Amino acid sequence: MAGETTDSTTLQTEAEVEQEVTPWTVQAGKRGIDYNRLIEQFGSQRIDPALLKRIEQVTKQSPHRFLRREIFFSHRDMQLVLDNYEGGKPFYLYTGRGPSSEAMHLGHLIPFIFTKHLQDVFDVPLVIQMTDDEKFLWKDLALDEAYRLAYENAKDIIACGFDVKKTFIFSDLDFMSSEPQFYRNVLKVRKCVTFNQVKSIFGLTESDSTGKIAFPAVQAVPSFSNTFPQIFGDRADIFCLIPCAIDQDPYFRMTRDVAPRLGYLKPALVHSTFFPGLQGPKGKMSASDPNSSIFLSDTSEQIKTKIQKHAFSGGRDNLEEHRKHGGDTDLDVSYQYLTFFLDDDAKLAQIKEDYESGRMLTGELKQVLIQVLQELVVQHQERRKSVTDEMVRQFMTPRPLNFDAARK
Ligand code: TYM
Repeated sequence: MAGETTDSTTLQTEAEVEQEVTPWTVQAGKRGIDYNRLIEQFGSQRIDPALLKRIEQVTKQSPHRFLRREIFFSHRDMQLVLDNYEGGKPFYLYTGRGPSSEAMHLGHLIPFIFTKHLQDVFDVPLVIQMTDDEKFLWKDLALDEAYRLAYENAKDIIACGFDVKKTFIFSDLDFMSSEPQFYRNVLKVRKCVTFNQVKSIFGLTESDSTGKIAFPAVQAVPSFSNTFPQIFGDRADIFCLIPCAIDQDPYFRMTRDVAPRLGYLKPALVHSTFFPGLQGPKGKMSASDPNSSIFLSDTSEQIKTKIQKHAFSGGRDNLEEHRKHGGDTDLDVSYQYLTFFLDDDAKLAQIKEDYESGRMLTGELKQVLIQVLQELVVQHQERRKSVTDEMVRQFMTPRPLNFDAARK
């Protein structure tokens, strides 16, 4: 496939341990996920200091902590988005969620927090796809249940603070049956992608259902602006920027490959690393393992217990050793979590210094994290409680969105 690297997503690290990153499996090598190798293998670009500076200039504010700390670390065509934006051309944001569980976990929040930030600083429209169809196909879920979960999860997403005048959230089950343009674009993509390509990009095989083989086109088409006639009319020339964790990249490598053949623009992307599971910094937090995850529905007590009991520690075996050699912040899950959620750079640097020098103990570090996360989750739950069914209906109704008319 021209211009993009699309080989199988499995690779051998030096230690001969297989690293595998697909939208459905994230398995780290022995030394954790090698993000440099992923950039090489997927053919994306690192977000380098020059690009960070450019983002700062264009947005006129210091980069979000996710950028400062290389949590969003990779991109495709981000410069093009900035060039267009500076030239007065509009763009829109597209992200999504596969509703497979009642509650979302902290890892799922990462792209939504960043997308909200991008919506605020660029003042652009946003579409959010709820792939209830994907989860029906991949999980042991009834169709009605996947559909219900799409609406439940939409409440968590709305609670992130998106602007209803600029945000359209849709369930695939709803939108595919109500918007002819959606299915038309899906068909155009399907005609361009062979079974061989789907096998090589996604690792699917002859024994996978035809539902799975046909699905990737559905996640592809929200990248094309004319999929949303209520928002963009028949314009196919509005640039799309997709924030997501890097596990979703295979969908968009495929999308970027077919876009020019359909006369559409290739979507741009910004990729994040994975928010790790409690057991260690090597994998990603996963909803299917409750002990590895902190859910947005957890009580303060549950958060405390999970961190105290399960958060992998980079501390030493005993107090004496720890005081002497200090802890390892690369391995310590509590410290890693703070890099995602503690905004104060100076405080984070102080914690790193104190922990690595042995002045701070694992229990003390965990205490800092417990407070940060309890506050975050309680605030989220309060905002979620105030999300009414009427608000959900508003967000999920196809309609025109407000965006800067001067940029149209
Ligand atoms: P899903 O529901 O698996 O995940 C939703 C979003 O969260 C990201 N994510 C994570 N980010 C950081 N750390 C983690 N541990 C973690 N786990 C998940 C995912 O990358 C995703 O951005 N097929 C998609 C839904 C979808 C979508 C999209 C996602 C449809 N269109 C466009 C991104 C962009 C899915 O099942 O996501």
